[in-house]
Amino acid sequence: MEIHGVADAETRERTITAAVAALAAGELVALPTETVYGLGADATDGRAVAAIYAAKGRPRFNPLIAHLPDLESAERHGIFDPVARALAGAFWPGPLTLVVPKRPESPIADLATAGLDSVGLRVPAPEITRAILARFGRPVAAPSANRSGRVSPTRASDVVEELGEAVSVVVDAGACPVGVESTIVAVLDGTVRLLRPGGIARERIEAVIGRPLDAAPPAATRVEADADTPAPLAPGLLTSHYAPRAAVRLDAAQALPGEALMTFAGARPPGAERAVAIVDLSPAGDLAEAASRLFSALRELDRSGAVAIAVVPLPTTGLGEAIADRLGRAAAPRP
Ligand code: TXA
Ligand code: MG
Repeated sequence: MEIHGVADAETRERTITAAVAALAAGELVALPTETVYGLGADATDGRAVAAIYAAKGRPRFNPLIAHLPDLESAERHGIFDPVARALAGAFWPGPLTLVVPKRPESPIADLATAGLDSVGLRVPAPEITRAILARFGRPVAAPSANRSGRVSPTRASDVVEELGEAVSVVVDAGACPVGVESTIVAVLDGTVRLLRPGGIARERIEAVIGRPLDAAPPAATRVEADADTPAPLAPGLLTSHYAPRAAVRLDAAQALPGEALMTFAGARPPGAERAVAIVDLSPAGDLAEAASRLFSALRELDRSGAVAIAVVPLPTTGLGEAIADRLGRAAAPRP
């Protein structure tokens, strides 16, 4: 494994060359995005895509997001109606994934789309990543670069800790500013549906389409919030995901002995003074800051050796919806 940075023009050039060569050889490359680090492979090469699942230890093949440098290249793989094009125009590059009908002539491997006739497409924000995608010239399939069922990585060191030698090249562009995965919106058959809350709040999507999102698909057919997640065992039963080693206790009114505390906006519930460790996701009460720190906070509190992580009640509006979704998975019963 090689770690490549982006410090100056010469380093960036070497990084792009190394990343593109590895992708072309069917190897895995960890790429920074504004949401989380992605574990990337050539989306048109089924064996390279399979290596992603293998490295993650993923329990099943769920569809992966294909990453492109711009809308023009995305349109070679998916069919964009006016609504999809408006959303891409408003939010790309950025933390939005659009699920649209797959073009029959798209060379994206079936394993990457799990055999569906739709495809998830996204244009990530970091300039270095778009430069790599542009130079490579093919879509890059990339789930979050963590082992299956573990917290998503928001720093290059997290990727190294999770995946080590499975990855040929790690592109280190620092911490991911958004910190939760992209919002996934399906624009299919005239409907616009939220498949996963994420880095762009529902309200911003609705402002662009000029109407409320259509109802989420029924639970039985719903896409999991993350491709690592096995299908729910029963309706309403969240499967465990984003799971730290410690138990996670939500809506905690106090910190119990032996617990670490995840708090927000300066809240100090009873017992805070004896907490094993404390992280305030955003002392200023800013949900975007809280989202960007969520996964690193889970890791840090987990490392404290606490028996459980108590989480104070958090707002559920705006980005709070994605945070609640991730925390709900972290707290769900473990398989
Ligand atoms: O922010 C992100 O989206 C990150 C970065 C690396 O881009 N990626 C990410 O990928 O979160 P992953 O594999 O952890 O989650 C991909 C999600 C899964 O829920 C998958 O089922 C859904 O995208 N998805 C992909 N293609 C789809 C399709 N054709 N139809 C429905 N869902 C799809
Ligand atoms: Mg993931």
